[in-house]
This record gives sequence, C-alpha cells and structure tokens, in this order.
Amino acid sequence: MDQTRVFRFLGQVETCRVVLLMVLVFTVVLGLQYFELTPFSIVSPNNGTVTKAREPNDVNKSAENETFLASPEASSGFRPRNDTAEDLKSFEHKFVNDSPKASGQSRGNATASSLPSLPPKIPQSNKKHHERSTKKPPLVVISITQMNNMILKRHSDPHNSLAPRWGSKVDKELETARNQIKNAAFVKKDDTLYAPLYHNLSIFKRSYELMEQNLKVYVYSEGDRPIFHQPEAIMEGVYASEGWFMKLMESSHRFLTKDPTKAHLFYLAFSSRILQQKLYVRESHRRRNLVKYLRDYIDLIVSNYPFWNRTRGSDHFFTACHDWAPAETRGPYMNCIRSLCNADVGVDFVVGKDVSLPETKISSAQSPNGKIGGNRPSKRTILAFFAGNLHGYVRPILLNQWSSRPEPDMKIFNRIDHKSYIRFMKRSRFCVCAKGYEVNSPRVVEAVLYGCVPVIISDNFVPPFLEVLDWQSFAVFVPEKEIPNLRKILISIPVRRYVEMQRRVLKVQKHFMWHDDEPVRYDMFHMILHSVWYNRVFQTF
Ligand SMILES: *[C@@H]1O[C@H](CO)[C@@H](O)[C@H](O)[C@H]1NC(C)=O
Ligand SMILES: *[C@@H]1O[C@H](CO)[C@@H](O)[C@H](O)[C@H]1NC(C)=O
Ligand SMILES: *[C@@H]1O[C@H](CO)[C@@H](O)[C@H](O)[C@H]1NC(C)=O
Ligand SMILES: *[C@@H]1O[C@H](CO)[C@@H](O)[C@H](O)[C@H]1NC(C)=O
Ligand SMILES: *[C@@H]1O[C@H](CO)[C@@H](O)[C@H](O)[C@H]1NC(C)=O
Ligand SMILES: *[C@@H]1O[C@H](CO)[C@@H](O)[C@H](O)[C@H]1NC(C)=O
Ligand SMILES: *[C@@H]1O[C@H](CO)[C@@H](O)[C@H](O)[C@H]1NC(C)=O
Repeated sequence: MDQTRVFRFLGQVETCRVVLLMVLVFTVVLGLQYFELTPFSIVSPNNGTVTKAREPNDVNKSAENETFLASPEASSGFRPRNDTAEDLKSFEHKFVNDSPKASGQSRGNATASSLPSLPPKIPQSNKKHHERSTKKPPLVVISITQMNNMILKRHSDPHNSLAPRWGSKVDKELETARNQIKNAAFVKKDDTLYAPLYHNLSIFKRSYELMEQNLKVYVYSEGDRPIFHQPEAIMEGVYASEGWFMKLMESSHRFLTKDPTKAHLFYLAFSSRILQQKLYVRESHRRRNLVKYLRDYIDLIVSNYPFWNRTRGSDHFFTACHDWAPAETRGPYMNCIRSLCNADVGVDFVVGKDVSLPETKISSAQSPNGKIGGNRPSKRTILAFFAGNLHGYVRPILLNQWSSRPEPDMKIFNRIDHKSYIRFMKRSRFCVCAKGYEVNSPRVVEAVLYGCVPVIISDNFVPPFLEVLDWQSFAVFVPEKEIPNLRKILISIPVRRYVEMQRRVLKVQKHFMWHDDEPVRYDMFHMILHSVWYNRVFQTF
C-alpha cells in the first residue's frame, strides 16, 4: 500500500467516524424524544440498566381510574399512543424476586449473571422456590410434545391425586364423569368443532357436555373488595382475563351453586392485578405483604369451612393474570388449580393440574375481542411479523438477527404504532409471539383473532387449553435457540400446509373470544372453566 493510498484509506476512516458520530447524535436525540414520551422509564445509555422502573404515581388513584391503566400517557398529558401490551407491564418487572440479594442483581449487569462460578439451578418440581432470572434462557427446555405427554401421564397416574380426607358424593360424580369421558363414543366430525384442532374430538366433546350437565362451582363470599369480588375494576388492559372470568363466573346461572356440599370446584374470586395495585409499596422491592394477604384469606377459608381441609385445596381454583401471581400463590395455594397467564413449566406451573389462562389485551370493555379478522392467505404478503419493546432476553436476539436483514418478507421491529401493528397482523402469514419478561404475551390471542398463524418463541410457555387443543396443528413452536433459522423454518412450511393451518386458526377463534352478559358455548370463559374441570376430573382417583 503506498502513502497516498494509506491517506485515502485514513480519510475514508475519518469520513466513517463523522458519519458514525452523526448517527450517534441522531440516535441520542431520537432516544431523548422517545423517553420523553414514556416518562416513567429512564434507561441509562451506558449500561442499559433500568434505573427507575415505571410505577403508578398513586396507587389509590390508579386503581380507581382504569383509564390510567389502559393508557398511561393519556393521563400524563402526552399524546395518547397505542402501546404494545408489554409497555403497560414493564414497570413491574424489576422485582421478580423477593430476596434483596436477587433484586440487587440489577438487570443489565450481564457480567455478573454470566459468571461461570454460579452453580446452575435446575428447576425441580419439588423445590420450594424456583425463581429464575428473566434475562437468561431456562436451563431445561420442555417441548410442546413433552408437555402433551406430561398431561397424559399425570391424568393416568393416581399417585398425582391427593386423596380426599373424607368422602363426599361429589367424588363419586367426578369418578363417573371420568369413566364416561374415557368411554366416549367415537365422534368423527362435528358441526361446531373442527376435529383437527383437538387431540381427541370425542374426548373433548364428551367432557364439555358433562361439564355443562354436571359441574357445580361454589364461590366463597368472603374477601374484601376491591381485591376480591370486584371484576369491574379489571375489565380492560393486559390483565383483564382475570376480571372477565370473575365477572362471568360470579354471574353464571348454569354453574354456580349456593350449596357448597354439592360443589365440584371452589372458586377464589380475587384479582392479582388489583392486589398488586392496592398493596404493593412503591420502590419497596418486596411483596411479602401481598403474599401474606392471600395467606390470611386461606386461613379464613380453612377455619370457616371444612371444604379446603377435605381435599387440601385441590378442588379450589382461581384465575390470575399478573406476572407475580405464580410467586404469590406458592405455599398453601400450590395444591389449587392455578389458572395463570404466566404459565411457565420451567418454573412451577404443573401441567395437567394448573391451567394456562389466555392473556388478552382488552382496549375497550364494550368490545373485548376488538376488531377481529384479516386477509385470506393469498393476500398475506408478509412472511413473518413481530413488533414490541425489547423486554427480556429473547427479543434483543430476535431483533439483532432479523430487524436489519435484507429479507423484505421478515418484518421484525421494535415498537410501532397501533394502527400499523394491526395492519401487519392482518397481512402477515406468521405472527411471532416472542417471550418478553415472562413467557406469556397477548400476541398469541391477537394473532389468532387476526387470522395469523402464531409462531411461539418462548421456551417452556404452556399454551392455553393444551389439555384439549392440539396446538401444533395450528401454531409453530420455534425453540429460542433456533431464532437464527426462523426464516428457514417458516419458508420450509409448504403452502398447502400453511393454508390448512390458517384455516384452523380461524376455526379456533371462537375459543378465544369473550362474550358480555351471557357467555356463549365454547367461548373463552367456557374453555377456561373446561380446562379446570378436566384437570379436576382426571385428578380424582
Ligand atoms: C390509599 O388509600 C388509603 C385509604 O383508602 C390511605 O390510607 C393511603 O394513604 C392511600 N395511599 C396513597 C398512596 O395515597
Ligand atoms: C381518570 O383519567 C381521566 C383521563 O385521563 C381523567 O380525565 C380523570 O380526571 C381521571 N380520574 C381520576 C379520578 O383520576
Ligand atoms: C448503570 O448506570 C447507572 C447510571 O448511569 C449507575 O447508577 C449504575 O450504577 C450503573 N450500573 C451498573 C451495573 O453499571
Ligand atoms: C456487575 O456486578 C458485579 C458484582 O455485583 C460487580 O463487581 C461488577 O462491577 C458489575 N459490573 C458492572 C459493569 O458494573
Ligand atoms: C379418542 O378417544 C376415544 C375414547 O377414548 C377413542 O375411542 C378414540 O380411539 C380416540 N381417538 C383418537 C384419534 O385417538
Ligand atoms: C382444618 O384443619 C386445620 C388444621 O389442620 C384446623 O386448624 C382447622 O380448624 C380445620 N378446619 C375446620 C373447619 O375444621
Ligand atoms: C388507538 O386504538 C384505538 C382503539 O383501540 C383507536 O380508536 C385509535 O385510533 C388508536 N390510536 C392511534 C394513535 O393509533
């Protein structure tokens, strides 16, 4: 290389530097604008640590004013934006652990978390606490096929049921139902249920009928509002599933009984979201008072009624959509059928006992399903779509891999505005539902309602209604480590197979819809209740 060339080369390097600097300045300016719009979170550019998590500025006010929850910007005087659901959740994620040691290990200090000297923690179902860092992949990955087998195994093994301490006629009724389901007459086709969606249509259909004919649920009247018995306070936002279920359950003519001796199931009508809003002390990084509140409730139930003692809680159930719910309902609640949005089989969700609660993002309680629909397969020109904040460890990997690649059929973005988000969902063949801080995401239900085949990239997430739905028949499960092969995996799905999958997505929509006032057969309310019923029936021996 002669000197002039060297200088020219150095000159190019200078130009590059200048360009880089300009890009940097531009990014910082954009970043500043961005954070002005989201006043509750400040991210340090140096180390990426969230130094101040978004918190409700007034716990009482925010609980009374659901508008605040649905769109924080609206009440803070900024232009209303239609955030992706996770934004609303972001502020809570800092304190996944109760222990000061764990919460001291701040997000972003990657060095500390990747030190090889830390002994690997293998999740074990007999361990009392299995907290896990939300910034690291799980050590043990359980595939969807394995989950299906775990359910079958649990439901056929009497050792997994807790024998009641004394008998009751409801035990006999459950046993009869179990035998009737097992001996269900073979059903090849059905007018309302599309057979390929289910592990076994005959079994599902029979179990559902028997639920309609027999199931009686008792709701304890104990429990103070608004944490208990006040679904109206939680009908919108990303945690609304627990509110909708509570509302429909507490007003159900068909399933409720006032006589607890006739009940097959006992419902604990609380909201995990309102519990957090009311009792979580800002900046305390502790939620022991929340746990204690729930424990005191069980103590009350245990001393006032014999029913909990009879089955040690295994015929009791609740629905809880807040991310902390799994951790708050350990201890005495562990035997209950826990219906959780945060359904993580790598933590302590027990498939075959617990029930995955669909997370639904509800913008308006008047129209809980939003505007469903989308293009037919031939008009879906985008291969894969994702947009959302960079929560957790999976999304940065996804974006690094795909956001700046030349393939124009991969639309992988950071957050985008709501209108575009919906437009992409309706025009894409596959909608990526990538893990955020937790395994669950409202995208799964959104994708289904927009007729987009869900691509679930969230190791150990237990999808809703797995007891009966054959998820692999209408969704794609991509292990987190296969993110670099995402496009290859999707384009390898033959067109005919895709068209059939998309058809199934449309057929499964009815299971993911809410109905006000009077729930409709096979809708979301009934499907949640059915999974609880099914797991109870197959765990009484
Ligand atoms: C919330 O309301 C309770 C009484 O309803 C009050 O004691 C408490 O101080 C309030 N908290 C805040 C943060 O305003
Ligand atoms: C609730 O939010 C709305 C819209 O942001 C606001 O106008 C109203 O004053 C708030 N109400 C309370 C009680 O904070
Ligand atoms: C990250 O940056 C913030 C503010 O710049 C600082 O207070 C904090 O100590 C830093 N944390 C780490 C782990 O470097
Ligand atoms: C990360 O944390 C460890 C121990 O907590 C500390 O020694 C180290 O300096 C931190 N790293 C950074 C980049 O701040
Ligand atoms: C479904 O279950 C029924 C009843 O147990 C059984 O007769 C039938 O063979 C099963 N069908 C399939 C496809 O496994
Ligand atoms: C249930 O059992 C607990 C202890 O095992 C006991 O303290 C309580 O009184 C029992 N409840 C009823 C209603 O007998
Ligand atoms: C936000 O969503 C609502 C309905 O969900 C819609 O009416 C409104 O136009 C959207 N706003 C923007 C800025 O996209």
